[in-house]
Amino acid sequence: MIKLSPGAETLARKIQSLGLATPSFHVVLGSGFKDSLEGGGLPESFKIRGEMNFREVDGLHPSTAPGHAGKYVFVENSRHGKSGILQVGRLHGYEGLEPRQVVQTVMVSRELGVQDYYITNAAGGMDPAHRTGDVMIITDQINLTGRNPLFGSNPQKADGTEWGPRFQDLTLLFDGELRTQLKAQLQKGALKIHEGVYMGVLGPAFETPAEIRFFQRVGCHAVGMSTVWETIALKHSGARICALSLISNLAAGLALGKDGRPEELDHFAILDACKTSSVGILRGILQTAEARWGS
Ligand code: HPA
Repeated sequence: MIKLSPGAETLARKIQSLGLATPSFHVVLGSGFKDSLEGGGLPESFKIRGEMNFREVDGLHPSTAPGHAGKYVFVENSRHGKSGILQVGRLHGYEGLEPRQVVQTVMVSRELGVQDYYITNAAGGMDPAHRTGDVMIITDQINLTGRNPLFGSNPQKADGTEWGPRFQDLTLLFDGELRTQLKAQLQKGALKIHEGVYMGVLGPAFETPAEIRFFQRVGCHAVGMSTVWETIALKHSGARICALSLISNLAAGLALGKDGRPEELDHFAILDACKTSSVGILRGILQTAEARWGS
């Protein structure tokens, strides 16, 4: 028996009580993806088997961000008998949390042996080709939060062994094969698909137009307040990672109103803009996971 942290232990017990196999993938559905599950994002070959709120998982911080439920939904695939975890909502640094508290939401399933992670977020588009509702598959990231989940003692598993090296290489942070498969799957649908670099900031204030111009100049294409810690912690643990941004708005200063003046950003309008695309994205992710099991 492998030794588990209290959080992973409660998750494992729940999965066992549902009669499910160890999940083979974990999808993080960030802000804007809240309604994707009920809205038709679950392909017919997947069934919801149960759920668990963050509050029920020992040691996990409950979500406080508006638009973030903070729960795990367990799904099973009827064709292959495989299961997966859909994490609806996530934790953020801007809630006042430490990077390690934030990444615990994905590390509890990693402890159980989950290998493939699909991370989503809503982000401000900075590329001239971006339109609201488009998808940007993340090819690389810049962590501008000034914080890092590997800071401090090298993260360990419950049995005291280290998850990974002290100085983690991030050259191949995002898995090329998973990215190609997800891109091909999403391209079958109606969504416009881009690729680009994600800029992770702490928030919670949106950026100034000057900051956005700066981010554009240093080679970034979308900006958001999440994801970069989860990807680093997961890479350190040897997981396979694929991430994408739903372009929920054009970044500050880039959208002009009818009067030609820059439009202000509104969190709730941003969440609303995500509804249709988020359904197609979740379907695409689950179809990609299914295709990886073979037909
Ligand atoms: N900036 C930062 N985070 C975001 C944005 C943005 O424009 N849109 C959605 N999350």
